[in-house]
Amino acid sequence: MALYEIFREPESTPTSRPSGGGSSSGGSSRPSGGSGTTTPTPTPDPEPEPTPTPTPTPESGKVLVAYFSATGTTRPVAEKVAEAAGGDLFEIVPTQPYTSADLNYNTDCRANAEQNDPTARPAIQNAVEDMDRYDAVLIGYPIWWGRAPKIIHTFLETYDLSGKTVATFCTSGGSGHEDATLRGYEPDATWLEGRRFSGTSQVEEWVNGLDLPKPTDEEANKMYLQIGDTVWTASLEDNLSVTAFKELLSEGPVTVNMSDYGGFEKVGGLATTLPQSNRQITTKPGDIILYQGNSVTIYYGENSWNFTLLGHVDGVTDAQLREVLKAGGEDILVTFSLEE
Ligand SMILES: Cc1cc2nc3c(=O)[nH]c(=O)nc-3n(C[C@H](O)[C@H](O)[C@H](O)COP(=O)(O)O)c2cc1C
Repeated sequence: MALYEIFREPESTPTSRPSGGGSSSGGSSRPSGGSGTTTPTPTPDPEPEPTPTPTPTPESGKVLVAYFSATGTTRPVAEKVAEAAGGDLFEIVPTQPYTSADLNYNTDCRANAEQNDPTARPAIQNAVEDMDRYDAVLIGYPIWWGRAPKIIHTFLETYDLSGKTVATFCTSGGSGHEDATLRGYEPDATWLEGRRFSGTSQVEEWVNGLDLPKPTDEEANKMYLQIGDTVWTASLEDNLSVTAFKELLSEGPVTVNMSDYGGFEKVGGLATTLPQSNRQITTKPGDIILYQGNSVTIYYGENSWNFTLLGHVDGVTDAQLREVLKAGGEDILVTFSLEE
């Protein structure tokens, strides 16, 4: 019998907890109370009160991966989840860190006491900056006595996740995934099927199978330009050149040294050649053009030529364009990126 089966219990058992009977030696981080050890019986939590809900303004497709890891097993899983989902990573850090004595489940330790106390809400030291910008939240934790640690309850009581897509994942010594005690906190969230992991190899498959919100067309068609302290957004065209340019930017921001040309544009070379979607165009101030496949141009004036329109800078006046682009003047560095 695998050691973890010593305390594996059916997932549906509400008072699921590690049971005794196995060896408690070996320093394993799983509960396996040996003979003579007393195992506390966690009391089920009362139904949590649903939190009142202000209207969130989520940024479609933006994913937060929030995780708690007491001994470091859940961390790499969470990192892989964030990577696979293209999400931001947030570690839920307890105000009072858990010592090994706190986690010694064969004793009357802090973790056991918390899991047994329906009112326990261990404080969290750090905060998610602007939860409203996330559309999906994936929450990771170790299984403690068959359930999520109480600090996850603190997290769910701190933030309003209604309207968001939520899924949980866990690691454990063998017990299955459990999130039934958490779902009641956010009845207005869309809960997806969670999963237990014993390593990172299955993570990508799980994330890819989740029905996570997709970026809206409008958001998918934005690009950022940074020039000194100024950040502009640009709306992108729908053509093969833009697809290739976005693919290039998905690897990271691209900075181009751009020089003045002709009294109507700033132009600089890309380190690569992109496919062209040329047509005869008369430019407007703010147009971003691909020239001969390997140069990018920002117009502050007019010019007619056969070249590729990549997009247009949003919401700037001609005067602002001229000032920031140093029209008629020195070279500037422009950083193009898909993320602000
Ligand atoms: C207090 C406590 C209770 C635990 N209860 C269980 C359990 O019921 N079932 C299980 O399979 N593992 C249990 N474990 C083992 C952890 O779930 C497992 O080691 C987990 O991967 C640790 O993740 P972390 O390193 O990210 O904290 C328990 C561990 C602790 C400290």
